[in-house]
Amino acid sequence: MNIEDMKKTLKSGLKESRYLHSLGVADTAVILAKKFNADTDKAYIAGLLHDAAREFKNEDLIDEAKKRNIAIDEVEAKMPLLLHANIGAVLVKEKYEVADEDICRAIETHTVAGQNMTALQKIIYFADMIEPNRDYPGVNELREFAQNHTLDEIMFKALSESILFVIEKKGLIHPATIVARNELIG
Ligand SMILES: [Fe+2]
Ligand SMILES: [Fe+2]
Repeated sequence: MNIEDMKKTLKSGLKESRYLHSLGVADTAVILAKKFNADTDKAYIAGLLHDAAREFKNEDLIDEAKKRNIAIDEVEAKMPLLLHANIGAVLVKEKYEVADEDICRAIETHTVAGQNMTALQKIIYFADMIEPNRDYPGVNELREFAQNHTLDEIMFKALSESILFVIEKKGLIHPATIVARNELIG
């Protein structure tokens, strides 16, 4: 499927603001890919499609995951919204003819991160946090930090802030986020 068809298909399934967010992540991912020597075409596609599974209603995510034999862990069972990442990684193969494993993995880890992340995975995780439509306290600081730090330094800060944010909300921290952060120490 070419990019224009991907956009048409994605737009028909998502609300307008989420479609615009997806375009923002795609553009931001390309900028980061250029900066950190990753594949810009893969970055664009992964950014564009990272939230493809948000086309499903939240209450349907458990069923959509089961239908695809996606394992549901304890945290996901309590917060099914997280599953849009895992489902998205499969949905892009089913519906958007994406065969590239690195793109699928980047979509899979865009919400809670994970072990042994590739540059593309890190780029999509971070682009999702800072794309131009994002507006939350500290987002400009993150954007500026990205200007003059390495990809791993950026990820360490992004993961640390995500964990702090969840703690503030008294929410559940997904173990994958802790694993990803620990890997960047030492
Ligand atoms: Fe997402
Ligand atoms: Fe997103």
